[in-house]
Amino acid sequence: RGRVLSFLREPVAADDLDACRYEEDGAVFVRRGKIVAVGDFATVSAIAGDVPLADHRPHLILPGFIDAHAHFPQMQVIASYGAELLDWLNNYTFPEETRFSDAQHGRRIARLFFDELVRHGTTTVAAYCSVHKASAEAFFAESHARNMLNIAGKVMMDRNAPDGLTDTPQSGYDDSKALIGEWHGKGRQLYAITPRFAITSTPDQMEMAQALAAEHPDCHIQTHLSENHAEIRWTEELYPQAKDYTDVYAQYGLLGRKSLLGHCIHLSDREADAMSESGAVAVFCPTSNLFLGSGLFDYQRYRRRPNPLTVAAATDVGGGTNYSMLRTMDEGYKVIALQGEKLNPLASFWQITRGNAEALSIADRAGTLDEGTDADIIVLDARATPGMRLRMETVSALSEELFLLQTLGDDRAVREVYIAGAAAKSTLSAA
Ligand code: GUN
Ligand code: FE
Repeated sequence: RGRVLSFLREPVAADDLDACRYEEDGAVFVRRGKIVAVGDFATVSAIAGDVPLADHRPHLILPGFIDAHAHFPQMQVIASYGAELLDWLNNYTFPEETRFSDAQHGRRIARLFFDELVRHGTTTVAAYCSVHKASAEAFFAESHARNMLNIAGKVMMDRNAPDGLTDTPQSGYDDSKALIGEWHGKGRQLYAITPRFAITSTPDQMEMAQALAAEHPDCHIQTHLSENHAEIRWTEELYPQAKDYTDVYAQYGLLGRKSLLGHCIHLSDREADAMSESGAVAVFCPTSNLFLGSGLFDYQRYRRRPNPLTVAAATDVGGGTNYSMLRTMDEGYKVIALQGEKLNPLASFWQITRGNAEALSIADRAGTLDEGTDADIIVLDARATPGMRLRMETVSALSEELFLLQTLGDDRAVREVYIAGAAAKSTLSAA
């Protein structure tokens, strides 16, 4: 029981409450991990019968947040000083990822990664593992043990990386194939074919990724696109026959509705058209793009062009600097503001719940609070800190409260997290 909020479609303005399903005195009834009933308290409690409903008033009950792009082997890369993308990869990220040849290290970091996501209210992530098959095994085993709906893949990379951090076209194919067989569709696990980006894959490896994608059309594909000017230049040198960076992926059949392209900051109109025509998803990673000095993602241009792009939002940990989707959208708001636009608070919360679920093709299972979907649910407290409590004294509208949560909120604002109906974070009993 609490103030229940979910979204029916993308809100077009801060007062577009028609896009929301909001119950001031609402409830969600969960049975065996699924949402059985949602609505006003009287109706839901009649359905629940004598099953007691936890009372979360005056807090907000929402679908769990979804993070559309993060790197689980980069937890110890966050806050690496002083580099742009290519130096950051070479000096910090690649050396760190070599440690994941050790399966035990992978298991430890996977455990801590999900602990951290859940603390911040994120119940689903699309994640990159390292090149090592064992890192993906560790990720999926931990995710499965927690009964989380997650998407991940072993990174494929066979050049321009240190020894110990490359596979080969054949081993990358074989390991990915084995992981798909073992994990894709097991419980709530989903596999993403994950060529890291064009710079670290030879054309031979791209062909192998293409073959995997053709053999497993129900798997996601995830990679990086157009993040940094030096990266774009080098890619165009490595693939001279492609029209542009986006066309590299198009030529290998890697653009489609289940393709998640991280960053997409510097796309030409032609590239944006190619993205939208294929249905591929452009993933907005504001904290990472700011931290690495990569550029400003033009969210509103992409959303409002004649051929709109499907956009998702993500932390991109460890280029990204925070696990929180609230912190992420706060920075996202500022990135959009720097380009003379605004993102209204309802649209922002739509993006990190239903919007990301739709972009990841999982909205039939998560992100909505719809009856029949999995009960991944969070409880948010807009008075979580003294400063938030004080600011709430002058807040009346729901959209103002959400904007306050986004602007000042972090893990402290996340009071409860339920994964498939089971409590994964709780402050109810905290002394
Ligand atoms: N491009 C290729 N690999 C990476 C990565 O790990 N992080 C980011 N931000 N960009 C990349
Ligand atoms: Fe990334």
